[in-house]
Amino acid sequence: MTAATLPPPSPGPDATIAVGFAGLGAMGAPLARNLAASGVPLLVYNRTQSKAEALAGPSVKWSPTPRDLARSVGKGVTLAMLSDGPAVKALLFGRAGYARGAPAGALFANLATIDPEESRAFAARLAEKGIHYVDAPVGGSTDLAESRGVTFYVGGEAEDVVRVRPLLERIGRRVEPVGGVGAGNAMKLVNNLLTIGITALSAEALSLAAGLSLDPKRTVELLLAGGGRSTMLERKAERFLARQYAPQFASQLARKDLKLIERAAARGGRTVRMTREARRLLDEAIAAGHGADDFSSVLEATLARAGTPTPAAQDAAPDGPGVDAV
Ligand SMILES: NC(=O)c1ccc[n+]([C@@H]2O[C@H](COP(=O)([O-])OP(=O)(O)OC[C@H]3O[C@@H](n4cnc5c(N)ncnc54)[C@H](OP(=O)(O)O)[C@@H]3O)[C@@H](O)[C@H]2O)c1
Repeated sequence: MTAATLPPPSPGPDATIAVGFAGLGAMGAPLARNLAASGVPLLVYNRTQSKAEALAGPSVKWSPTPRDLARSVGKGVTLAMLSDGPAVKALLFGRAGYARGAPAGALFANLATIDPEESRAFAARLAEKGIHYVDAPVGGSTDLAESRGVTFYVGGEAEDVVRVRPLLERIGRRVEPVGGVGAGNAMKLVNNLLTIGITALSAEALSLAAGLSLDPKRTVELLLAGGGRSTMLERKAERFLARQYAPQFASQLARKDLKLIERAAARGGRTVRMTREARRLLDEAIAAGHGADDFSSVLEATLARAGTPTPAAQDAAPDGPGVDAV
């Protein structure tokens, strides 16, 4: 279906539509699709309108602006899965933003990973209009979003959590309240310190193994059988071994999270030295062109530091490919 053949945008308030969903990227699309498939009629918005194509259908309509979406959803719940704080701010408070259309009593559930302080600021600004806010960032990546296996870390007032929970339960495995507004984002940052940090450390281990002339496949196999075993190494092993980084969680988003962790730590008087090193590696991977690749491409930064050629350079070498670098 092309953009021209999409169903027309919703004309205005629609009593049959109770739930909005904004942001149909790598995570948002499967979450919205699963919510619609569970029987919830949806009104969706995405900045790049063509991404509504995969979702539009009898029970999924699309809206041209967040303000129109908010008007149509009325006092209902809108979930949003955007990339970062500035994107959420634009969605909420832009010229045709959500806050200009939502009536008092509406509930906005922010699923993105953003700064807890930003969440609290958004909640306070929305509260001036009587609009409710929860942060419900997601643990788990695109595969778990597809299979309804994600965890939501939820921060908000108890009655708002009660309102949003039944929707989240339709698209995730666990819905975990962790405190007031911002606590969900805080928990997510703590989680990502480990998931991104372990991935960076795994990359460093594999780079060391290459430097010690160990067989890469055997190394991964033995790591997964020993004390260094981790869910992240398990999930990223294939990408590490192939040195191909099909995007699941983009390096630039992982770097965004590490910056948020560093900022949150500085505010809270904590040091996060290993996080800072992981962020530097990600900086290098992004500078080398891996920003849109999966963040397991952090391996390329560790290998480059050791002078290992990129896969492309290896392929172009006179003696051809075939040297497994890790
Ligand atoms: N990918 C993962 O594995 C994963 C796992 C857990 C949590 N997260 C978190 O989930 C969030 C979304 O990640 P993702 O991987 O789905 O990212 P993504 O694929 O890059 O999608 C980002 C979404 O945000 C929209 N957007 C970006 N800037 C915007 C703006 N200024 N105004 C309006 N919309 C804007 C994009 O719209 P367009 O389509 O127009 O670009 C797209 O819908 C991030 O906070 C990320 O850290 C990701």
